Amino acid sequence: MSSLPSHSARRPKVALVTGANGGLGRWCSLGLARLGAVVILGCRNARRGQAAIDWIHQQVPAARLELLTMDLANLSSVHEAAQELAERHQVLDILVNNAGVMMLPLAMTMDGFEQQFGINYLAHYALTALLFRRLMASDASRVVSVASIVANHGTIQLDDLQGLTSYGRSRAYAQSKLCNLLFGKELARRAAAQGLTLTSVIAHPGFANTGLQRRTGRANLGRVGEVAMIGANLLFAQSAERGAIPLIGAASDPTIDNGAYLGPNGFKELWGRKAALAHTPKAAHDEKLASELWELSAALCGVSFPI
Ligand SMILES: NC(=O)c1ccc[n+]([C@@H]2O[C@H](COP(=O)([O-])OP(=O)(O)OC[C@H]3O[C@@H](n4cnc5c(N)ncnc54)[C@H](OP(=O)(O)O)[C@@H]3O)[C@@H](O)[C@H]2O)c1
Repeated sequence: MSSLPSHSARRPKVALVTGANGGLGRWCSLGLARLGAVVILGCRNARRGQAAIDWIHQQVPAARLELLTMDLANLSSVHEAAQELAERHQVLDILVNNAGVMMLPLAMTMDGFEQQFGINYLAHYALTALLFRRLMASDASRVVSVASIVANHGTIQLDDLQGLTSYGRSRAYAQSKLCNLLFGKELARRAAAQGLTLTSVIAHPGFANTGLQRRTGRANLGRVGEVAMIGANLLFAQSAERGAIPLIGAASDPTIDNGAYLGPNGFKELWGRKAALAHTPKAAHDEKLASELWELSAALCGVSFPI
């Protein structure tokens, strides 16, 4: 198991995981709790968040866990959550931007953004910027962006990020995950250029059995779609526990380089018992695109990084 980066003898690391009540986020939270971190579970539903806390406590009775309610489909909620965290903690060492939705029919967030773009990417951009001063208060902070193999097929429509001229649910998901990847790379470059102590790492879980596909099936095809997705997951997906391995490594392994992209080490990065460097799609190397997306994101969500 990895160890937390430059673990301080004086205080435990403080970590925030979004979408921590289920799927990969819950396993990632458990993994970080096992490593001794204070884990803040960012969840939109307090009851589901508390259930995850109880589940982790069953396995790590001494775990120090907190709940932070936030709805990433509402930027006001993101602001409130960031404010609440800043009041509770002077330092944030690890931020895992994990929450997400996949291939849903066209719908908008409270702020009028297409929901996959808004939840998977833009809210996490805003959250990271809002928490940046707390991240900078750590002597070795880590931001993890959660991408997907699907990002390999993604393209970014800078002039139509919301997909309003022609919406495709798969295309919108792939774009949002490529945004996560571009953001993680750009944050790494900007942090390095400024000589910051922050490390930005990107991770994907391969194909993992979580609620993600089930929700997609239900939203698009009702109960039949949901059952089909559950069946496909049972046949082809690895466990959520395995899927979380690259995320936990990205959040905690001190040997991982700034800007690295991790995924499962097995067949076509779909499965694996360990984390390994993942294939980075060509578009994710486009520094001009990443920089333009960064600036546009700041304008869209109204939150800028102090770098
Ligand atoms: N599973 C895979 O095979 C796979 C593959 C590639 C990438 N990923 C990525 O992995 C990440 C985690 O997904 P998962 O597979 O663990 O899916 P999951 O089981 O569906 O979990 C998603 C989490 O995100 C939360 N969430 C969704 N919308 C939210 C919102 N508006 N505000 C706050 N939280 C919200 C969910 O909370 P609720 O329970 O309240 O809905 C849940 O905790 C996603 O970014 C996904 O794109 C997954």
